[in-house]
Amino acid sequence: MKTTYETLTDSARYISDAINSDSPVIAIVLGSGLGDFAERAEGKIVIPYKDIPHFPVSTVKGHRGVLVYGRVSDVPVLMMQGRFHFYEGYSMDEVAYPVRVFARLGIKKLFLSNAAGCINKDWNVGDLMLIKDHIKLVMDSPSRSLDDDAIGPRFFDMSDAYSKSARSMVKEIAKAQGLALREGVYMFFSGPNFETPAEINAARILGADAAGMSTVPEAIAASQMGMETLGISLMTNMAAGILEKKLDHKEVLEEGEKAKERFSSLLEGIIKRWSEFSD
Ligand code: HPA
Repeated sequence: MKTTYETLTDSARYISDAINSDSPVIAIVLGSGLGDFAERAEGKIVIPYKDIPHFPVSTVKGHRGVLVYGRVSDVPVLMMQGRFHFYEGYSMDEVAYPVRVFARLGIKKLFLSNAAGCINKDWNVGDLMLIKDHIKLVMDSPSRSLDDDAIGPRFFDMSDAYSKSARSMVKEIAKAQGLALREGVYMFFSGPNFETPAEINAARILGADAAGMSTVPEAIAASQMGMETLGISLMTNMAAGILEKKLDHKEVLEEGEKAKERFSSLLEGIIKRWSEFSD
């Protein structure tokens, strides 16, 4: 599958019909720790990815693959329950496709969340990190070979990819909730293997605070299409080589479960404020 303006229009039209032509204000990608967040929505409409024309099809068993539309704090939001990862074999173009559809639907704000390995030795497992910026050394991009001004400019700015003004708002909300929030740099790794200790060392020297296998392709597509983006990472484990123990996916899932309440309250606060807020 290759993204074109026409495929985006088809997909967006299907979703728009399914939600009775409502206008969601924020699109949200629910990562580890937020999987159940969609249950908080009122007036839910669930749209399986497999029903949306041109949407990538989820092949992973037990993997949730639905869009959930509904109101959270009375704000209409469109949520992805289950995302596409590069390590699953999708192209970068496919990984970023849903975000491009959200932009085509007219949604201007994107919230991305994920589980990440903590590179910063002064931080701890369970910490939440507001993404300030990212590093991607993987030599591929969701915008590679996409050249259509109707979708977005070929060359585009990434200097405020994670909106500075929206980040200030998030910091205020966290403070009001008495919630500790870190801020730092997320580095994209292709996975599915966890990184080596030497890779994590190199990442730290380069200025990264967290390592993960998602979010960056989506943030790049969002920048190209003019969306304002926020991202938050949950530190589910110390990254490779920091502790004398092996990394285990089970730990990632367990920490996600533990952080559920905290992370959900913060996101709810963000939805309420961000919907009223513009630069
Ligand atoms: N590395 C990459 N991605 C991750 C990690 C990690 O240590 N933990 C959770 N997602």
